[in-house]
Amino acid sequence: MKVIIRQMEAADVEAASIIEQEVFSMPWSAEDFLEMVEADYAYYYVAEYEGEIVGCCGIRNIVGEGEITNVVVSPKYRRQGIAKKLMDYMLKEAMANGIGDCTLEVRCSNLPAIRLYEGFGFQGEGVRPGFYDRPKEDALIMWKR
Ligand SMILES: CC(C)(COP(=O)(O)OP(=O)(O)OC[C@H]1O[C@@H](n2cnc3c(N)ncnc32)[C@H](O)[C@@H]1OP(=O)(O)O)[C@@H](O)C(=O)NCCC(=O)NCCS
Repeated sequence: MKVIIRQMEAADVEAASIIEQEVFSMPWSAEDFLEMVEADYAYYYVAEYEGEIVGCCGIRNIVGEGEITNVVVSPKYRRQGIAKKLMDYMLKEAMANGIGDCTLEVRCSNLPAIRLYEGFGFQGEGVRPGFYDRPKEDALIMWKR
């Protein structure tokens, strides 16, 4: 499977938002992604397969620490290593861009994502009670230091 990981561009934000709508109860909009594509402190990436955007991810540089805000793969392309490729690319670029420790929040019940992050050395360090809505759920705060 020839998947290309590359920087997200303005032309990709619509496709990224469509995947978000398919997957999340509170999806990011195309405008949300566009703001990140244009921000000099944010790094967003897409996975492209045969010309189609099949996943995306992004990280913000908050005074030298990385905050991962999105990691998503289109349901029909899962379990083929695409998220791994996205994370690997994003974390290498983050390091090259001077980002040190990285953090993220994830629903406590979201085992696929938690396993993915653990595979990259992230560890749960705390819980934010009731962080998520629709449905209400705690967030696990993970760090890679
Ligand atoms: C989490 C998600 C991004 C994984 O994408 P993916 O492309 O299927 O993941 P990969 O095939 O690259 O798998 C990488 C690792 O993640 C973990 N993983 C992925 N799916 C899993 C599942 N269903 N159950 C358990 N572990 C899983 C495994 O550790 C896997 O490594 P392995 O294949 O060596 O076992 C995808 O399931 C998704 O988009 N989920 C909905 C969005 C979401 O919850 N994003 C995170 C928000 S914080």
